[in-house]
Amino acid sequence: MRILITGARGQLGRSVAAAAIERGIDTVALGRRQMDITRAENVNRGIEISLPDLVVNCAGYTAVDRAEQETTLAFAVNRDGPSHLADACSKKAIPLIHISTDYVFDGRKQDPYDETDPICPLNVYGQSKAAGESEIHKKTDRYIILRTAWVFGAHGNNFVKTMLRLGCKHETIRVVDDQIGNPTFSGSLAEVIMRIAAHYRRRNEINWGIYHYGGQPPISWYGFAQQIFQIARRAGLPLKLTRPEAISTDEYPTAAKRAANSVLDNRKIERTFDIRVESWHAGLQAVVAHHRQTQKRR
Ligand SMILES: NC(=O)c1ccc[n+]([C@@H]2O[C@H](COP(=O)([O-])OP(=O)(O)OC[C@H]3O[C@@H](n4cnc5c(N)ncnc54)[C@H](OP(=O)(O)O)[C@@H]3O)[C@@H](O)[C@H]2O)c1
Repeated sequence: MRILITGARGQLGRSVAAAAIERGIDTVALGRRQMDITRAENVNRGIEISLPDLVVNCAGYTAVDRAEQETTLAFAVNRDGPSHLADACSKKAIPLIHISTDYVFDGRKQDPYDETDPICPLNVYGQSKAAGESEIHKKTDRYIILRTAWVFGAHGNNFVKTMLRLGCKHETIRVVDDQIGNPTFSGSLAEVIMRIAAHYRRRNEINWGIYHYGGQPPISWYGFAQQIFQIARRAGLPLKLTRPEAISTDEYPTAAKRAANSVLDNRKIERTFDIRVESWHAGLQAVVAHHRQTQKRR
């Protein structure tokens, strides 16, 4: 099986490429320079040359607050990019796995969101991702849209690395405690993508459509920060921070509005692909340990 991965230099793209290579899968991992997904001709050429059995789109515009200003760019990457990929995949009868987000929801639901819940994004990033989903749906039948949340890994920018950096500089940090979501380790998500790929390889057909995958258990940003610092302290990181301070969303205004509840219901993916959703805890320990190692080398 040959897999083509776009956005392969991002935090998830790297994890997916590593997981595929580890399994001995023929992997074509393309960063933005090798395949800019906003350019249809680039996408068509890349797919024609590599002729993959499956495409995994990890490319995305992910700067949630900056997207409020850079609307055109956010839509070019998150709507037009998936649209070009879906078009090219459909022409060659290649299935597409695309990564979407919990930010397509408005957070008003009290319970976890499942795949049948109506979407209603609160910010430009969420709107651009929702538009990407809709383009894929229009252009191909053989797709998996995997909505995930609060992704963190050893590479790239994410909340864990921001907390570790700030925790080594400041004695106090204020963290929002009234937004709840699913921290998701990029390595676990990559394993899930490999699992779906393996199902496809065995059967050649799977239940296409939208799936949710969010690490367990759900927690607030503040609760997650507490866990990060606990693990960091045990790993011997030189923290200045004594305790994070819990604040409300109102006390931390951001350019993009965020949902209070964006917890994802994982039951469909568990049932369909026989997946047991992992706790994010082990992934967090691995990322903190990796951070510690890189600090030591400096
Ligand atoms: N991070 C999260 O918390 C989160 C949560 C839910 C869903 N997701 C989704 O998960 C996917 C992967 O996100 P991530 O966390 O890995 O983000 P990331 O680290 O920002 O990676 C995104 C990658 O996409 C690349 N890219 C941007 N524009 C591109 C273009 N026009 N053509 C090709 N590549 C392009 C970026 O390249 P450059 O480095 O050159 O900019 C970057 O390597 C995205 O679709 C995102 O929306 C992320």
